[in-house]
Amino acid sequence: MGMMEIRLQKVIADSGLASRRHAEDMIRSGRVTVNGQVVSEMGVKVDPETDHVKVDGHHLKPPAPKAYVLLHKPADVLTTLEGAAKEDRVMVQHFLRGVKQRVFPVGRLDYDTEGLLLLTNDGELAQRLLHPRYHIAKTYLTKIKGTLNTEEIRDLENGVRLEDGVTALAHVKKVRKAEQNSWIELTIFEGRTHQVKRMLEAVGHPVLKLKRIRFGPLSLGSLQAGEFRFLRDDEIHRLKAAAFGSPDASRTRRQRSIRAS
Ligand code: URA
Repeated sequence: MGMMEIRLQKVIADSGLASRRHAEDMIRSGRVTVNGQVVSEMGVKVDPETDHVKVDGHHLKPPAPKAYVLLHKPADVLTTLEGAAKEDRVMVQHFLRGVKQRVFPVGRLDYDTEGLLLLTNDGELAQRLLHPRYHIAKTYLTKIKGTLNTEEIRDLENGVRLEDGVTALAHVKKVRKAEQNSWIELTIFEGRTHQVKRMLEAVGHPVLKLKRIRFGPLSLGSLQAGEFRFLRDDEIHRLKAAAFGSPDASRTRRQRSIRAS
């Protein structure tokens, strides 16, 4: 259509109206027009300078400046923003007072899981960070029933069989033992639904509490539950390097460091 051709769903996402995934749903359901024509198939490219894109009959706003927010999600809070009619449960957005841009969670934490949640309107980065190929490390501090023995640690690290297949290499660090229970850190490089809970269930030590403390180069630090901060420039740079660097190189590096530790 024009000179600067950009995918329609990206143009919608860049305007801050929706995540890229949600923008695709909008296109599919016939809510988007380009120069007055409904476009409902994927893959159409437009020139945001010259083509007139509308959603539900309204022009898009100019691209919003990028924002990167790190939230300490409290437990008993929903990550999902879309399909918002989820009873009266509190959603992560509630905690972002003062954030002017519409930011979207990068992945999800379970309702009862707390900890580091990244939110951004940078759809391209979000998509990369979620893609299994890039193996972004996520570390969870978890209180589990009982104590892991050597064999169970080895199984967790080398792969346990779950309904949806064997898990990839992971790393376990013992933190401390309580009376009946114990605390460990589990680092995984995938992001399947309820993965940490399912892995620990599979080795016979159900999760009692779950908190994400690291996501790629980002750390939760001393941020309290319900607090957020904007990422520093160096954190944004490192996050982009993790997401846009050569996937195979970074994977080999990480796997080596797991074996070495
Ligand atoms: N694994 C889980 O089981 N739950 C989460 O919220 C995140 C990882």
